[in-house]
Amino acid sequence: MKTAKGFCVLFMLHLCFFDSGRTGKVLVWPTDFSHWINLKVILEELHLRGHEITLLVPSFSLMMDHTKIPFNVEVLQVSVTKETYMEELNTFIYITTSELPKMSWWDKQVKLPEMFKSFLRTHKRVCDAVITNTELLSRLQAAKFDICVADPLSFCGELLAELLNIPFIYSFRFSEGNAIERLCGGLPAPSSYVPGSTTGLTDNMTFVQRLENWLLHVMSDVMYLYYLFPEWDEYYSKVLGKRNLHVVRILILYVKCKYLSECIKTLKRYF
Ligand SMILES: *[C@@H]1O[C@H](CO)[C@@H](O)[C@H](O)[C@H]1NC(C)=O
Repeated sequence: MKTAKGFCVLFMLHLCFFDSGRTGKVLVWPTDFSHWINLKVILEELHLRGHEITLLVPSFSLMMDHTKIPFNVEVLQVSVTKETYMEELNTFIYITTSELPKMSWWDKQVKLPEMFKSFLRTHKRVCDAVITNTELLSRLQAAKFDICVADPLSFCGELLAELLNIPFIYSFRFSEGNAIERLCGGLPAPSSYVPGSTTGLTDNMTFVQRLENWLLHVMSDVMYLYYLFPEWDEYYSKVLGKRNLHVVRILILYVKCKYLSECIKTLKRYF
């Protein structure tokens, strides 16, 4: 009896003080097609548990039909038609399935960032549709969201979270050679131990596989830092009014030195 009473008291205290009984407000920055299918499952589960979901959907979305989505939806008006977007995607899919497999490793390293850059260009217009819409921004601010769930394929979710001063969470691990997770998120992932996503490697790597993984880390660092990021770095800095991304870069240098020592240690182990 005593235990039951104690449990009840503890349970009530838990509900009152530890916030676990409260449902939250979730802002979602999604991406279309397979990414949407993946995210939808998570959102439906959150919805079932009583959380309030609000989605920011670009007007050209094909699979995310805002008339059928059972959550709150804000449609972002972008001057890209569904047809143009479909055409862009078809080209993207054709190149990845038919041309990339025939390309040499080096050509692939050039082609992939090029494609990613043009994909992001369309999504920058979606980002603009939120950032320049002060009425929408203040409405989002007033809604007091608890968290932003962002699909990392299209940048901007994290910028929006920063503007609204709320935490964000990515819906999956994604970037080539874990570059974004390492460079922006500060994830400690030495190339000799942690397989980069898209390599298909596991944490049990042979020496040659470790070298391959290390090379991918280096290539993706170059691609992101010198090819993809500068444009977005400038954009984010303009919106946030500070050069905060440079701070991240200083951290990167530090992290890279640590990687090097890890690499040397691993090399020593093998020789
Ligand atoms: C790692 O891989 C090697 C060869 O592929 C295998 O012999 C070994 O058992 C694996 N080690 C672990 C811990 O899975």
